[in-house]
Amino acid sequence: MKKCQVASVEDAPIQAGTRVLVRVDYNVPMTVDGAISDDKRMVDSLPTIRFLLEKGARVILCSHFGRPEGKPEPQYSLRPVYEHLQNLLPDVVVQFAPSTVGAEVLQQVNAMPDSSVLLLENTRFTKAETDNDPVFAKQLARLGDVFVNDAFGTAHRAHASTVGVANYLPSYAGFLMEREIHYLSQITNKPKRPFTVIIGGKKASDKLPLARKLAGVADNLLIGGCIAQDWQDDGIKHRAKIYLAPDKGLDISPATVKAWQPLIAKSRTIFWNGPLGQFDVDPKNGAGTRAVAKLVAESKAVSVVGGGDTAAAVKNFQFTHISTGGGAALEFVEGTTLPGIACLQKKGEK
Ligand code: 3PG
Repeated sequence: MKKCQVASVEDAPIQAGTRVLVRVDYNVPMTVDGAISDDKRMVDSLPTIRFLLEKGARVILCSHFGRPEGKPEPQYSLRPVYEHLQNLLPDVVVQFAPSTVGAEVLQQVNAMPDSSVLLLENTRFTKAETDNDPVFAKQLARLGDVFVNDAFGTAHRAHASTVGVANYLPSYAGFLMEREIHYLSQITNKPKRPFTVIIGGKKASDKLPLARKLAGVADNLLIGGCIAQDWQDDGIKHRAKIYLAPDKGLDISPATVKAWQPLIAKSRTIFWNGPLGQFDVDPKNGAGTRAVAKLVAESKAVSVVGGGDTAAAVKNFQFTHISTGGGAALEFVEGTTLPGIACLQKKGEK
């Protein structure tokens, strides 16, 4: 994999005992009974954690979970995530800090054995996080000697734990972040053609601007889901040929899948965001999404799937890259500079 321009965790000055504050995105989906229904974001963060543990570092993880609006709400505690993390790292001492910052957390950090992990409580239990408050950012920074951002899914948010903290510590990208930048850049930077974009999902207001932007760069734009009904011809002559799924039901039909098949098979780059049927209403509506996933997986294209819902729906198929980001992947592909990436040191910068 070609390395990206931001400084990598591999370049960070880390030795036994170094306190490394790692921002992860453990905002994982949960069932009503509090079980984690998709742990991809956690699993994908493990290479960075393992790398640091092998160097003897003390790994202090921080993340938000949900949107508790700046208040410590028990249903947004990261404790269940901590329990799952311990299962993912059975050979490692993993501890939980019931607060995010403060004297007691600092004491816990100082007492950590080398090569162990401490997960802090939800960073959004204070409004200072989303306000990117410098005092809170400094308190977080006090817990580490080095900052590593591996939270690609939150890189579009300029918050204290994603951006503010980088003002006070040498800051590097983790392996998950590097992988996301590498593969998503293949979409934004001279994609191999034909370049096909598949867009679906419900959030038409979020997706329509992206679809219009991508219509200017892609060769084929295949639109399904609710957004197909909301697409209106803007009279602009786009580069892409636009294919709107004509289906009126809650899923795209086998006829649409068949019509899209040759376009997908000929593509050399494919970017896909958003399910093509409403399988949250009824799992049967996942058939169209799965049929298209099979075509994409069988194609020879570089295939990148972005967005939590899409990733969960297609996880049994092989793609070049499945992004851990929803909004972050969309903003990256739209060409926005994500603040959580912009704040990191550049390669070779001291
Ligand atoms: C996500 O799931 O998209 C990220 O974790 C960001 O969460 P947010 O939209 O609540 O900021």
